[in-house]
Amino acid sequence: MTNETHITGHYADGGLFDRLRSLLIEDGADPDNPSIDDLAPYDQFHGRAIEATRELADLFDPGADAHLLDIGSGIGGPARYLADRFGCRVTGIDLTAEFVDVARRLTDLVGLSGRVDFVQGNALSMPFHEASFDGAYSMNVSMNIADKDAFYREVRRVLRPGAPLILSELASGGAGEVDYPTPWAETEDASFLVSVDETVAGLERAGFLVERVRDATDENLAFGKRSKEMLDRGEKPPHRGVHLIHGPALAKTATGNTAKGIRSGNLVPVEVLCRRRG
Ligand SMILES: C[S@@+](CC[C@H](N)C(=O)[O-])C[C@H]1O[C@@H](n2cnc3c(N)ncnc32)[C@H](O)[C@@H]1O
Repeated sequence: MTNETHITGHYADGGLFDRLRSLLIEDGADPDNPSIDDLAPYDQFHGRAIEATRELADLFDPGADAHLLDIGSGIGGPARYLADRFGCRVTGIDLTAEFVDVARRLTDLVGLSGRVDFVQGNALSMPFHEASFDGAYSMNVSMNIADKDAFYREVRRVLRPGAPLILSELASGGAGEVDYPTPWAETEDASFLVSVDETVAGLERAGFLVERVRDATDENLAFGKRSKEMLDRGEKPPHRGVHLIHGPALAKTATGNTAKGIRSGNLVPVEVLCRRRG
């Protein structure tokens, strides 16, 4: 198995769009005409769901004429949110073909196809010209990428000089072993965690100026506590993307392992804002 099929096999099983439609119906939403808010519990496939996407977007100030790149765009929730909030264009790229297909269909359903598009491809070799984008971001993706230096260099290549890059992801806290499965990897073989310091050093080596690093451990723990309280009250939790993609059994173990890692300090949710040097 190649590394690519190892990664995409973890995420895709062919029935995603139909499962999402059923969940929307269960929620009382119209699956043929969903709003961005209807999709938000399902289409944000990272810790703290839409809350983390809003905070990432707070770091951007793109004009309506800006073109952003979403690296590892999943089923497109973050891309649609940013395009809707700023009126800008967003292109997403993702390795998993099924995610790209679902991302396009959902974007069409919410009427954003004119400004948000998706391509299937590898973040290490993107089919874009040099300096094509005014900004880029990536949410919970680099944990699947072994060669971080090649990843950062490739992102730098497609960004205009001075353009921002925001990474929102999990770093290794170095306090001990992480238990698998997690939402991003069934086994340790598909997980490539590095420390915050290694991330910053790698970005600087690739030609980025790191402007800000935020440890979001407390926010993650608070979100987990709120979600548990909602479940205890018999309500649906705000983040249901892992359930949608992996099914309830794997989702329970995977989110439990992530929560345990964050509580113990083995996993550090981190947001890094950097800028492409001239
Ligand atoms: C945990 S999901 C996050 C999806 C999306 N960023 C979000 O937050 O909703 C990780 C995504 O990264 C994608 N991915 C992993 N390695 C990749 C690579 N080398 N190039 C492009 N996409 C990749 C996977 O296919 C998956 O969609």
